[in-house]
Amino acid sequence: MNKKTKKVWITAYDVPSATASLDAGVDGILVGDSLGMTVYGLDSTKEVTVEMMCRHFEAVYKTLKKHNSEVELVLDFPFGTTENILIALETAEKFKNIGAECFKIEGGKEMLPIFLELISRGFEIIGHLGLTPQTSELKVQAKTMEEQQEILEVIKIFEDIGITKIVLECVPADFAKKAQEIFSGDIVGIGAGSDVNAQILVFDDVIGRTASNFSPKFLRRFGKSLEESVNAVQKYKKAVLCSDEKNMFPKEEESY
Ligand code: KIV
Repeated sequence: MNKKTKKVWITAYDVPSATASLDAGVDGILVGDSLGMTVYGLDSTKEVTVEMMCRHFEAVYKTLKKHNSEVELVLDFPFGTTENILIALETAEKFKNIGAECFKIEGGKEMLPIFLELISRGFEIIGHLGLTPQTSELKVQAKTMEEQQEILEVIKIFEDIGITKIVLECVPADFAKKAQEIFSGDIVGIGAGSDVNAQILVFDDVIGRTASNFSPKFLRRFGKSLEESVNAVQKYKKAVLCSDEKNMFPKEEESY
């Protein structure tokens, strides 16, 4: 695969994460329900609400508008919003009112009626297969031929109904490669090896802001944000407590 054609996706939840991601030149931003853990300290994505998703989407959306950015922007449907078509449509309308047009929704064949309804109303859908944190056990998926066959069938159906991107999470790399081979759109991998068209990671993991005891095999931290933040706050504390005029905070020139 030609590495130059690969696409880079990331999650963002607020102005700083969206600005950094745009400045770095990503291809796509997902306002993901992982914000439940990264922003709110929840134990899982199950407690994330539509209101939380709206609040964070609005911050990211405003950031993109301010930068005249054309980057693809996707909003996650949180847990419970696909319980039935009515709830899904209500959610889509709420999201549409704040500017969202493209939604990522976890699930396979059972989601087809909802996907078809949303697509018929002009929304774009991104599928999410493999490990789907709202319902799956947090472990590598698609390890058996049976499971793999089932996912490949779903991917073909998704392609037939016009879906052009699918997040594929925590599956063996050789299976993800097969999935990409049968799908003309982008498989956006997370823990799915390198033979897919696109990768996605959670912003807080990329910059190294999440606690180091969260360390799934696929996660590479590219920055040391947590360490740098602690250092900065320690320096601030030291300066406030310091009595020597040269190093203290605030100095005369920092006072009114
Ligand atoms: O919510 C999220 O951030 C996600 C990505 C990890 C794909 O679903």
